[in-house]
Amino acid sequence: MLEQLSRLGDAAGEEIAAAKDAAQLEEVRVRYLGKRGLVTGVLRGLGTVDPVRRPVVGEAANRLKLELEAKLATRRGELQEGRPRPRAAFDVTLPGWVVTRGGAHPLRRIQEEIEGIFLGMGFTVAEGPEIESEYYNFEALNMPAGHPARDMQDSFYFGDGWVLRTQTSPVQIRSMEETCPRLPVKIIAPGRVYRRDQADATHSPIFHQVEGLLVDEGISLANLKGVLGLFAREMFGEGTRIRLRPSFFPFTEPSAEVDVSCAICAGRGCRTCKGTGWLEILGAGMVHPRVLAAGGYDPERVSGFAFGMGIERIAMLKLGVDDLRVFFQNDLRFLEQF
Ligand code: PHE
Repeated sequence: MLEQLSRLGDAAGEEIAAAKDAAQLEEVRVRYLGKRGLVTGVLRGLGTVDPVRRPVVGEAANRLKLELEAKLATRRGELQEGRPRPRAAFDVTLPGWVVTRGGAHPLRRIQEEIEGIFLGMGFTVAEGPEIESEYYNFEALNMPAGHPARDMQDSFYFGDGWVLRTQTSPVQIRSMEETCPRLPVKIIAPGRVYRRDQADATHSPIFHQVEGLLVDEGISLANLKGVLGLFAREMFGEGTRIRLRPSFFPFTEPSAEVDVSCAICAGRGCRTCKGTGWLEILGAGMVHPRVLAAGGYDPERVSGFAFGMGIERIAMLKLGVDDLRVFFQNDLRFLEQF
């Protein structure tokens, strides 16, 4: 009898340990401890046992029952946690797990910094598609088919009037259409743009821009200068100055290239600014009347300014990087520095 109990105990112990889920565990419990279970059977049959041996067998059977109940409870707990309990105490001398945290790409960080500055001035962030219609990318921006300015922005044409956008300026039109007839239109539009360029230290066929547009009644060049001056100081430091040089864009009139004073030499002239003391960071101007009209606004009543800056260019200046290609090579030795 005692031997039979001990074999039952071993078998039950193994089955409990092998149970893979609560249902299997319950099956084991019923098989040994249920009403018709094997251990229960032994207890029931005690009456037939020799009265002299009865207390010993009865005690052994009860002890086995309690042991199995305890093992069942332990296993139930393990299955709930989904892992076996550690047998030994936690060893504090073992090396810990190193959890490496990911980080934002430096271009993304700079983009978010730019966004933050303009959000602070009440601009909202707008978006447009990277596969853009030739109408939004060129025509509506006063660059009709055959316009020579299209040459400098050759890109990938899909045919059927679609193109990989060469600039974020089409978002100007989209935003005006969306907001019209309400005022103001006050957006920035960050995003990826594409041009047929050979990659070198300062060019890439894929790069990023942030467009800016403010349309309202009575907007003047002074507003443009004020906003960009504030941006430059927040981005490059309190002492930063800006200057506007006359330029040409089909969608602004007048147009300007905007320089910031070189942060590295404080305008005295160094290698980075090629001795001029100034660094070009963006193109800008007063929104052309035809562009306002394409957006649905009356150029007699409203005016606006627009600007477009290259994120890579700003990032290179801000982070002291002298080759744009490193932003796209995804070499961790470079990326981990930021
Ligand atoms: N879209 C122009 C470019 O890519 C930049 C620009 C934007 C100029 C808005 C003026 C106004 O070169």
